[in-house]
Amino acid sequence: MYVPKQAVSNDELAQRGLDTSDEWIRTRTGIARRHLAGDHETTAQMAIAAAHDALEVADADPREIDLIILATVTSNHLMPSTACMVQDALGAIRAGAFDLNAGCSGFVYALSLAQQAIASGEHNLVLVIGAETLSRVLNWEDRGTCVLFGDGAGAVLLRATEGPAGIQASVIGSDGSGSNLLIIPAGGSAMPATRDTVDQKLHCIQMNGQEVFRFATTILAQATEQVVTKAGWQIEDVALIVPHQANMRIIASASKRLKLPVERFVVNLEEYGNTSAASIPIALCEAVQAGRIAPGENIVLVGFGAGLTWGATAIKWSVAPGEAAAPSYRNVWRWLLYRWAGLRSFTRQKARRMLVLFIRKADHLGRR
Ligand SMILES: CC(C)(COP(=O)(O)OP(=O)(O)OC[C@H]1O[C@@H](n2cnc3c(N)ncnc32)[C@H](O)[C@@H]1OP(=O)(O)O)[C@@H](O)C(=O)NCCC(=O)NCCS
Repeated sequence: MYVPKQAVSNDELAQRGLDTSDEWIRTRTGIARRHLAGDHETTAQMAIAAAHDALEVADADPREIDLIILATVTSNHLMPSTACMVQDALGAIRAGAFDLNAGCSGFVYALSLAQQAIASGEHNLVLVIGAETLSRVLNWEDRGTCVLFGDGAGAVLLRATEGPAGIQASVIGSDGSGSNLLIIPAGGSAMPATRDTVDQKLHCIQMNGQEVFRFATTILAQATEQVVTKAGWQIEDVALIVPHQANMRIIASASKRLKLPVERFVVNLEEYGNTSAASIPIALCEAVQAGRIAPGENIVLVGFGAGLTWGATAIKWSVAPGEAAAPSYRNVWRWLLYRWAGLRSFTRQKARRMLVLFIRKADHLGRR
């Protein structure tokens, strides 16, 4: 996982002139701080940093990756996919790469696709990333949204295995009748950027908080129950639930509906707020690092968000705690591969440019 260094507290937001208070934000959401990207940090950079760690923890070779799926609603650009920049930076020369936009459910959607790509026999090693720079699409004058979100990235590697462990079941769903409830109205083909759209801050997140809240409290429990049934488990068999980190009250409500103690849920939104598609992999990573997940245990990842979308994944955890510990040293060989990837990218860009110049020159001489 990767989160920007810059942490901004609720009090700091109030001091910056926003009409809010630490007390309001904490009691209504559970959020105390959020980490915000610095001027030079982008979704691609955070995704690459998280991917570096995932490759190191898994001790994997980037050249063996078959597919990279980057779940995000804040791609570096509308086109091309940020996943391609990640592929280039990692030197993942065999990998296909694309972005997936399923709102805050994006990571769970991506896991579902990755698992199916592996189960089909087509792919062996798939990198799944959730990365967001939401601070760039927030209206910092709208207290109903800007206090909720933060930036960051998390990544996992999925590998084909013979064992009975791993992803046991996935569910994904969508209800587009709620597409207006959580939306960035402008910047797409329906409303291209104009001076007016910028002036009206239509390139920022708009949300109907109460409607989204109502949807989230129901769907979190429902999606969990669905995936548990599909996996052939009972709800009591689930050791840990890693929910999308949107609001403590939403998680508490799901815990009540599922009749599971709230301690069974991973909660880190106090520190990071809602990092959309990055929230589940960041929470998963922290749970692993804290030793909260043991091999053989059943865990559920569950998300919901813009679309409206939802999704859940049932996993029998198979990685021993030691194996999944935070990387403590730099692997020199992998570091060299990344330097090589940078050089390769640079020379390919230059070679492409020189080829164009050469063809133009030849064309010019031919015409004379
Ligand atoms: C956004 C959310 C925290 C608002 O909480 P709420 O209890 O529903 O609050 P309301 O929207 O009813 O607003 C209550 C009052 O607080 C005010 N308020 C809103 N944001 C505020 C803030 N940051 N600080 C202080 N007051 C605030 C509102 O203006 C309103 O004031 P009013 O009664 O004078 O009009 C809550 O609706 C929520 O969490 N929704 C789901 C959001 C979410 O999870 N989104 C992401 C999904 S992926």
